[in-house]
Amino acid sequence: MVNKGLKGVVAAETAISHIDGKEGKLIYRGYEIRNLTAAHSFEEVAFLLWFGHLPTVAELDKLNTELVKSRYLTETMKTVMDVLPTNMDFMSVIRTVISAEGTIDYGWKPTISQAITLTAVMPTIIAYWYNKVQGKTCNEPVETLSHVENYLYMLNGSSPLEAQVEALETYMILTLEHGMNASTFSARVTASTESDIVSAITSAIGTMKGPLHGGAPSGVIDLLNAIETVEKTEDVIRKKLMSGEKLMGFGHRVYKTHDPRAIALRKKLIGLSGEDRWLDLAVHVENVAVKLLNELKPGRALYTNVEFYAAAIMKSINLAPELFTPTFTASRVVGWSAHVLEQAEDNTIFRPQSEYVGTMAQM
Ligand code: ACO
Repeated sequence: MVNKGLKGVVAAETAISHIDGKEGKLIYRGYEIRNLTAAHSFEEVAFLLWFGHLPTVAELDKLNTELVKSRYLTETMKTVMDVLPTNMDFMSVIRTVISAEGTIDYGWKPTISQAITLTAVMPTIIAYWYNKVQGKTCNEPVETLSHVENYLYMLNGSSPLEAQVEALETYMILTLEHGMNASTFSARVTASTESDIVSAITSAIGTMKGPLHGGAPSGVIDLLNAIETVEKTEDVIRKKLMSGEKLMGFGHRVYKTHDPRAIALRKKLIGLSGEDRWLDLAVHVENVAVKLLNELKPGRALYTNVEFYAAAIMKSINLAPELFTPTFTASRVVGWSAHVLEQAEDNTIFRPQSEYVGTMAQM
């Protein structure tokens, strides 16, 4: 029997993360995600995923130094971006530029330092390209800013508000890692041939680009735009559900209860929002939609997924839609690289079989 899409097949053992779809838990290296977003920074959680434990003060200091040092684009990366056509798809640009990093000194086996370098430079690539297509010059990285703050600073050319940094940091921590998803699997398959980490991450970016995976939360933005006001919420949602439409940002293949990432994002956002119209609308839409889904789709256990509040965050911090999937990439590179390192530690090349269903020539 063929398991199409390897559905239900366990392809690797991992100590990096665990998803409990029934209980609605996401665990990074033994820590529940909600506890991590409540008390730790992007840098600390990235350290946890790479090294297996939360950093001491000295370890965090060392990681910060390495991350800051590696934020700068190489001359090759700049040259490549300067010749690429500005109408090129954003994810294809990132894939091309990251693969240009492989022009220097990456080989088997992958190292944590290499993982740090690729993570550090990713926001700079995104910001450089984002500014370039608008005819602007991207600000140079600022060494005193954190990873996420510096990303927003380079994108917009001005210092972000603290609440914006916190909101985006929470989103990025929540999307650092999510088990054996398609792009992570791609990275592990490439690494399993004893290819280098740059090739593995390039494979992962190509996989992330597909709309079935890195599909940005733009469907949710469309939903929020269609609803527009608290007053119109029930009417718009009821009509959509009655006509058989799926509500974007609700339901999940693995989580058959609340998506813990959506809960963590909502909690953070409510704490930060103050007078944010979009967040207030999002919370209202969630309440109304869950009530109506329960009424019209009883027993399906449909709740908000991570995309729902990701959209609310992106909208509230004014991140342009073309930055959604690149920003997801800037966080997920940590998970990909952690998996590449884990694969290298106990490597067996991936080589599943296929079942021939073609015909035989009559000789
Ligand atoms: N709105 C309305 N009804 C829904 C929704 C929804 N968002 N999601 C599922 N249902 C209903 C289906 O119509 C179906 O009803 P039926 O029993 O009457 O036929 C039932 O719930 C089961 O639906 P499936 O599609 O079989 O559920 P599955 O778990 O396979 O699908 C999926 C999960 C694809 C995410 C689905 O919920 C969906 O399409 N959601 C909207 C798109 C979305 O938000 N995608 C982002 C997911 S998060 C992420 O990828 C990071």
